[in-house]
Amino acid sequence: MKKALITGINGQDGSYLSELLIKKNYQVHGILRRHSVAENQDVRIKDLDVITHYGDLSDEISIFKILKKVKPDEIYNLAAMSHVGISNDLPLFTLKTNSLAVMNLLELVKEICPNSKLYQASSSEMFGNSIDKDGFQRLTTPMNPVSPYGCSKVLAYNLVKYYRDAYKKFYCNGILFNHESPRRGSNFVTNKIVKSIVMIKKNKLKALELGNLDSKRDWGHSKDYVRAMHLIMNHNKPDDWIVATGETRSIRDFCKYAFKMVGLNYRDFVKQNQKFIRPLELKYLKGDSSKIRNKLKWKPKYTFESMIEEMIEYWMNKIH
Ligand code: GDD
Repeated sequence: MKKALITGINGQDGSYLSELLIKKNYQVHGILRRHSVAENQDVRIKDLDVITHYGDLSDEISIFKILKKVKPDEIYNLAAMSHVGISNDLPLFTLKTNSLAVMNLLELVKEICPNSKLYQASSSEMFGNSIDKDGFQRLTTPMNPVSPYGCSKVLAYNLVKYYRDAYKKFYCNGILFNHESPRRGSNFVTNKIVKSIVMIKKNKLKALELGNLDSKRDWGHSKDYVRAMHLIMNHNKPDDWIVATGETRSIRDFCKYAFKMVGLNYRDFVKQNQKFIRPLELKYLKGDSSKIRNKLKWKPKYTFESMIEEMIEYWMNKIH
């Protein structure tokens, strides 16, 4: 039985990845951060057959102890301060968690479990506003991050490459473009929109306040993207990969479709609030995922529309 260790197991991706690995007969271990509301710390995984350990990426001692105890075959580093907007309010915490803690993790993994494979959750936010002439971002596109979050992920990305090359390790970067689901935190734009629409429909909310409506994102479904993570870790050589749908849509497009699904017009409810505008905005993402599609035969099952439909259905059943 293979052993996997997932940092950030209680996140959207951590929970879907756990489900996938359990189905594949892995023993799944995960690191849980202590939360003052105990019910929140394992809310997405409480019904899954996983073994959890209290720890925190930024607590070196906890990581040392967990690695010694578990000695995993595969480590998926999904834990992060993952909100781009909030990284402007918590810049140091973002760098400590997303970059320095990755350095610590790499060093400890190398020393304690030298044969473990490692997956690093890298991000399309690393590209900032760089776009190739044909309108795509790919592995060769220059990285010009436009947020503390993006900067922190670039450092971690490079550390993973460095450790792979210097010490001949199976360490990989998955550069995932935005990926959503009903399990997405509701302060990310997609779930914020969908949850609010359902509340408006059920007369619990009058308006939806958003920031920039014109930036464009390449949105896929988390369930499809965790499949990519597993393929990346089980390829015959360690490498870096882009995971994306290759389609791009604006926040406005997202609103239009989602409001229409419940018979409403977004123009009647969406208002702009300066509070949600970022100091610098990443305006456009569209990923070229041909490498993973060709080499690992990955392709998404969800469409933009089926993903939104699933999210609406979830909130319709949840909010009474
Ligand atoms: N969160 C949020 N809230 N975003 C808003 C809002 C709002 O009220 N209004 C407009 N937006 C815009 C943001 O300015 C951004 O252009 C877009 O919606 C998407 O924002 P998020 O959903 O917060 O995601 P993100 O693109 O910044 O970051 C996500 O994707 C990255 C991959 O590119 C996160 O999941 C990152 O962790 C991930 O690495």
